Amino acid sequence: MIKVIINGFKGRMGQALVNCVPQHQELELAAQVDAGDDLAAVIGSGDVVIDFSSQAATVGVAALCAQHQKALVIGTTGHSDTETFEIRKLAKAIPIVWASNFSTGVNTLFWLTRKAAEILGPDFDLEVVEMHHRLKKDAPSGTAKTLAEILADVRKVRLSEAARHGRAGIVGARLQSEIGVHSIRGGDVVGDHTVIFANTGERVELTHKASSRDTFANGALRAAEWVVNQPPGIYDMQAVLGLK
Ligand SMILES: NC(=O)c1ccc[n+]([C@@H]2O[C@H](COP(=O)([O-])OP(=O)(O)OC[C@H]3O[C@@H](n4cnc5c(N)ncnc54)[C@H](O)[C@@H]3O)[C@@H](O)[C@H]2O)c1
Repeated sequence: MIKVIINGFKGRMGQALVNCVPQHQELELAAQVDAGDDLAAVIGSGDVVIDFSSQAATVGVAALCAQHQKALVIGTTGHSDTETFEIRKLAKAIPIVWASNFSTGVNTLFWLTRKAAEILGPDFDLEVVEMHHRLKKDAPSGTAKTLAEILADVRKVRLSEAARHGRAGIVGARLQSEIGVHSIRGGDVVGDHTVIFANTGERVELTHKASSRDTFANGALRAAEWVVNQPPGIYDMQAVLGLK
């Protein structure tokens, strides 16, 4: 049995993870911690830590996993460049699956987005729109960032230069190089993402809508089963699903 520790277990995702563990025959819940608890005190009881807490916590969690040689699955989003750099450094010591979205449907959307951007070419304007529940703390969503990164990669531009986060005022005509990213917040929406490819005379829209957090939780638990047998490094969900 693979022993799992859940960090952030009191949260929306944490609760979905706790409820979904019994569906995975290879997994056993070893410990669950939240803000104020001491992960260091229980880390020895697990093989893999699953972090769905706060972006401020992840570097410390990854450092502890590296120190104790435990695998790590990161679902938390919203990390700064510095935090991202630190986590990548720690992945030299342990295997980490780090995914902005663990659903199979969204990973299909990632694949379709790349294909559509390649086929439609540079004449299509690119916009990413996401909607989440009113309590979500970070914006844009990690998934929207991943979608925008895929578009920037196909266009061979830097996302930091091409991204256009919302528009207000006399902003002028849209630049062809822009990748628009827009965040809507409200109600209890689990997670909606649309990638728009717009040209004069036609428009393609790719949409994914999540209606249950179990889809993310089961993906993260599948990643936990997989990551314990991997050498150190950073992996995404496409690797877990065998798509690369
Ligand atoms: N990758 C994915 O598929 C995916 C899907 C949904 C949400 N998320 C991300 O997961 C994270 C959690 O989302 P949520 O909706 O469950 O949030 P939430 O606010 O409901 O839960 C977060 C939990 O983490 C706890 N926490 C905060 N700081 C902590 C710390 N230092 N140590 C331990 N626990 C701590 C909080 O007390 C809370 O219980 C967010 O970053 C969100 O964007 C990722």
